[in-house]
Amino acid sequence: MSKTPIILGIESSCDDTCAAILQGKKILSNIVANQDIHKIYGGVVPELASRAHQQNIIPVVDAAIKKANIKKEDITAIAFTKGPGLLGSLLVGSSFAKSFAIGMNIPLIAVNHMQGHILSHFIDEGDPMPKFPFLCLTVSGGHTQIVKIETSSKMEVIGTTIDDAAGEAFDKSANILGLPYPGGPLIDKYAKNGSPHAFEFGKPKVKELNFSFSGLKTSIMRLIQKGVVENHNFIAENLEDLCASIQQSIVSILLKKLKKAIQQTNITQIAIAGGVSANSHLRNELEQLATTKGYQIYIPKFEYCTDNAAMITIAAYFKYLDKDFAEQSETSFARLLF
Ligand code: KG4
Ligand code: ZN
Repeated sequence: MSKTPIILGIESSCDDTCAAILQGKKILSNIVANQDIHKIYGGVVPELASRAHQQNIIPVVDAAIKKANIKKEDITAIAFTKGPGLLGSLLVGSSFAKSFAIGMNIPLIAVNHMQGHILSHFIDEGDPMPKFPFLCLTVSGGHTQIVKIETSSKMEVIGTTIDDAAGEAFDKSANILGLPYPGGPLIDKYAKNGSPHAFEFGKPKVKELNFSFSGLKTSIMRLIQKGVVENHNFIAENLEDLCASIQQSIVSILLKKLKKAIQQTNITQIAIAGGVSANSHLRNELEQLATTKGYQIYIPKFEYCTDNAAMITIAAYFKYLDKDFAEQSETSFARLLF
């Protein structure tokens, strides 16, 4: 094996077609093709997503190789997302990776999408990296977890959502407000000029380190329905305050359980990962926690928050070192635990 592996990673678990090239622990290229087609439907349409992945995958991989300024013969291993995600979308990425591995006669590496989000903190960009063990609040459109990370391959989910994910809570709230999918970034944007305490919503009562967001959604829906009955311009006139209050509620639910996890485990190395870690309020609150409590907080760069293939390559790098390779018969899973 060469000393510094060059890994091509493919991520196609949802609606972004992504390819990245990693050399050692440094990213040479990180290409993401978004699928705008879903915007008009208010959410991802699985069949349309897999068709768009089929159209995008070759140009995206080609762009990643060109941007990295390498030849495909330089690639030491190819990695793909094995799950969790939409099965049809996952299969496009895994089929491509399997064919590429055969064609180039290189090892194949299967990566868990959520582990990829967590391990994105180990991409070498000169910033400090978490030290094991650390806690990671992993918040995306499909997941909300608190994970205890002992090593790059030993991770334990110590808290999870019992219904909706935090990203789903953002997106569904945005949908109620008439904002297009994905609504999380738009709520973040409008919240900047709103008051976070203008509206109060119900707070979940969930045991231990688990989360719940479905009650919040109902509470938001009721408040808005009532508001619209009294004033048909209610949403437009209060959009910024509504967004700020919704964002404040979601972030406070996340922080309450994260603080509890820190207390229970005595681990003060804290990371966040996943699409919702792009949220400015969550990032600010964590930075404050670092200042007031002296915790070590690790916040990913924006390009590594939402789905990307760079995170798949870095997770694959650790597997490459462990010689943890996949067979051609490796199966994709829509639901996949660690
Ligand atoms: O990790 P990700 O790209 O895809 C999944 O694996 O689900 O996460 C997407 C989620 C969406 O729900 C999106 O609304 C949310 O991340 N998101 C945000 C922000 N940026 C993305 N939520 C709140 N604030 C943001 N700035
Ligand atoms: Zn994700």
